[in-house]
Amino acid sequence: MPKVHRLCLVGFGNVGQAFARLLLKKAPELAVRYGVSATVTGIITGSHGAAINPEGLNLEAALDVYETGKKLDALSTVDPPEEAQTFIRTCPAEFMFEVTPVDPHRGQPALQTIKTALSAGMHVITANKGPVVHGYQALTELAKQQGLRFMFESAVMDGAPIFSLFRQPLVGANLLGFEGILNSCTNLLLGLMEAGKTFEEALDYGRSIGITETDPSNDVDGWDAAIKVAALVTALMGIPLTPQEVDRTGIRGITPEMLAEAKLAGERWKLVCSAEHSPNGLVARVSPQRVGPESPLYAVNGTSSYCQFKLDVLPGLGILEYNPGPETTAYGLLADFLNILEVQ
Ligand SMILES: NC(=O)c1ccc[n+]([C@@H]2O[C@H](COP(=O)([O-])OP(=O)(O)OC[C@H]3O[C@@H](n4cnc5c(N)ncnc54)[C@H](OP(=O)(O)O)[C@@H]3O)[C@@H](O)[C@H]2O)c1
Repeated sequence: MPKVHRLCLVGFGNVGQAFARLLLKKAPELAVRYGVSATVTGIITGSHGAAINPEGLNLEAALDVYETGKKLDALSTVDPPEEAQTFIRTCPAEFMFEVTPVDPHRGQPALQTIKTALSAGMHVITANKGPVVHGYQALTELAKQQGLRFMFESAVMDGAPIFSLFRQPLVGANLLGFEGILNSCTNLLLGLMEAGKTFEEALDYGRSIGITETDPSNDVDGWDAAIKVAALVTALMGIPLTPQEVDRTGIRGITPEMLAEAKLAGERWKLVCSAEHSPNGLVARVSPQRVGPESPLYAVNGTSSYCQFKLDVLPGLGILEYNPGPETTAYGLLADFLNILEVQ
């Protein structure tokens, strides 16, 4: 019989639901290949209610209820708590998955939710960059004290194995810097503008396919990219860095004329994220740059992302994630879960 592990989800939006679908899809494989069974005992949302069932919620029913716009409360076998801190203390689970919206400035309320879960004896897995940049050291330390894990593979480059790569496969290596394209939305917008759309037309298209938010400033002004740079520097280079400390320029200043001029010269504009040590300390930057075909960034199209790492033992190691989405982010959460269980 597979060993049953109880999970709770804080957040049930794009990523939370994609994770629920992945658990349903992978259940037979997890049981046969790893002897693992994952039962979701609780889900809480912002405005779609909450549900707890210590025996396990019916995930298909939860997805249906959410889709019809109803509250999850109808699925609960206990009085569902209305906010996340009480929910965590009430829900019987070994793992808490935190998938609520990012707060780039303070990382809240996710930071507090994660502290509560670790204090309550749960391993924590998040896709949220906020608590990584604003609480990496404190949360990792708290997890260690509790004999638990705080994992966040999906926080940068969705399901691509970035943080786990530096745990085991790259043991003994030191990260000196990196350069990449880490924001899908701006990469898509720049590509559309290269193809002749105006900035507004590109934004409208991005909104129509759900890539661009109603208020696009988080992406367009480089905040999402900056928080990813801060997360990589903090967790992989061991230097605590906030998004506000990243030298940040977005893509608002890039005009169709500039894109056309670059194209004539055989180059492309990309929103480049980078960090490297310099004699004056760490330089972390998000800025639009012209890149030529000799750069690996040149061929990164659409919503794909790429990061090239410079290590003391490997001068250039690149990872490309082709067309990510909530499903790939969900895989990052599953990979963290299985890594905590140390399944082989
Ligand atoms: N989308 C991606 O592909 C992707 C990729 C990498 C990382 N991420 C990160 O993953 C996280 C989730 O992204 P998403 O796209 O799933 O966001 P989303 O669709 O906006 O979903 C957020 C979920 O959190 C719930 N929520 C909001 N405030 C809450 C609170 N105080 N307590 C409990 N639940 C709360 C929302 O409730 P309602 O359902 O009632 O609105 C919703 O269910 C974000 O931090 C994001 O940066 C996303």
